[in-house]
Amino acid sequence: MARYSIAWMPGDGIGNDVMEAARIVLDAMKFDAEYVPCDIGWEFWCKEGNALPERTVAALQKTTCGLFGAITSKPQDDAVRELSPELKDKKLTYFSPIVKLRQMFNLHTNLRPCKSYPGNPLNYRGTAQTNPDGRDVLIDQVIFRENTEGSYGGVEFFPLPEAVYTALCANPKMKPWKDKGLENVALSTRIVSKQGCSNICRQAFEYAKKTGRSRVTLVEKPNVLRETGGLMTRIFRAMSEEYPGIRADEANIDAICMWMFKNPQDYSVLVAENMFGDIVSDLCAGLVGGLGFAPSANLGDKYAVFEPTHGSAPKYAGQYKVNPVAMLLTVKMMFDWLNETEKAIRLESAVARVIKEGTVRTYDMGGSAGTLDVAREVARHAS
Ligand code: NAI
Ligand code: MG
Repeated sequence: MARYSIAWMPGDGIGNDVMEAARIVLDAMKFDAEYVPCDIGWEFWCKEGNALPERTVAALQKTTCGLFGAITSKPQDDAVRELSPELKDKKLTYFSPIVKLRQMFNLHTNLRPCKSYPGNPLNYRGTAQTNPDGRDVLIDQVIFRENTEGSYGGVEFFPLPEAVYTALCANPKMKPWKDKGLENVALSTRIVSKQGCSNICRQAFEYAKKTGRSRVTLVEKPNVLRETGGLMTRIFRAMSEEYPGIRADEANIDAICMWMFKNPQDYSVLVAENMFGDIVSDLCAGLVGGLGFAPSANLGDKYAVFEPTHGSAPKYAGQYKVNPVAMLLTVKMMFDWLNETEKAIRLESAVARVIKEGTVRTYDMGGSAGTLDVAREVARHAS
């Protein structure tokens, strides 16, 4: 029997292309695993009215962890239009299966490292002021994004149930919307808990301590989002007292977008609520070459799902054109989680070498190699 059982979820679009690339590398490295194919994504929404079928949830429960490519999500109107005819009048609501998975399996922590590998032509060069000679700014950041609460918690209404509307209207600040009328108001909530805030801050500080990083930055907006941002900030500040060797500071989400552009090398560990973490991690990804270089891990206490940050990029689907590096670094994160440390180091070194040598590159790096060519080159160095 294989040592590990991996739920294999290519999903949609380029999810299939990059997962095939992952498999080439996993096999070349003789990773001792069985792969359990699991249905997830748009096709299953259209055919079955459920992008995350029950059988997939059941299969995941029997595996060590999951490896996921990408899924396609569309707004509700488009989703209903694309349902197969017999499902169209069943009043089905589309939900993103990956967001659902994070909540179902309590994958509370979304870990997103962004690192510039030497020789990547897409590495950030810095602003003219800080780096007039055009050298790479070496970036090595790790973002801890709360993964189950906040603005992506999924508690939204349109139209508003009367009881919710009435309760809200007890607040005098609701007057402008009350004047507009119940039928004209949509509501998306930002709900955070002490547990959620404490957990993500703890993960960030513990990671910094374990890896010898000296700075943890909270990304929030407590001056405007006074209750949710305020709670997160108070928890972060109190916890920072337990880590005297680590500099703990705070930045507003809008300000950090500017600072990150000016001085990205100054940041190390970032911690944020769900949506702010999503935003700032895409920004960081842009500084190290774009979505083709951004891996991520959804971590719970006992289970984890690993996925590149990018989506299904439909215009490139099935063309084997996109960069598999994000997916391969995602596999590296899975090795880390499984304590397959030697394999993790070997894989990351192979990726770094292929980037540096620069002979096999996908279109985003100015090359003409395909997704699987890059995977084979990485596999050659990693095996
Ligand atoms: P996307 O990430 O799929 O693609 C945006 C663009 O980024 C692409 O057109 C391409 O130019 C570039 N790109 C992405 N991955 C790349 C790679 N590996 N190598 C080189 N270039 C790459 O985002 P988009 O177009 O906003 O969304 C497409 C679909 O993906 C939507 O249905 C969206 O809902 C879904 N999505 C799913 C995610 C997930 O599965 N977790 C995350 C983000 C979007
Ligand atoms: Mg995103």
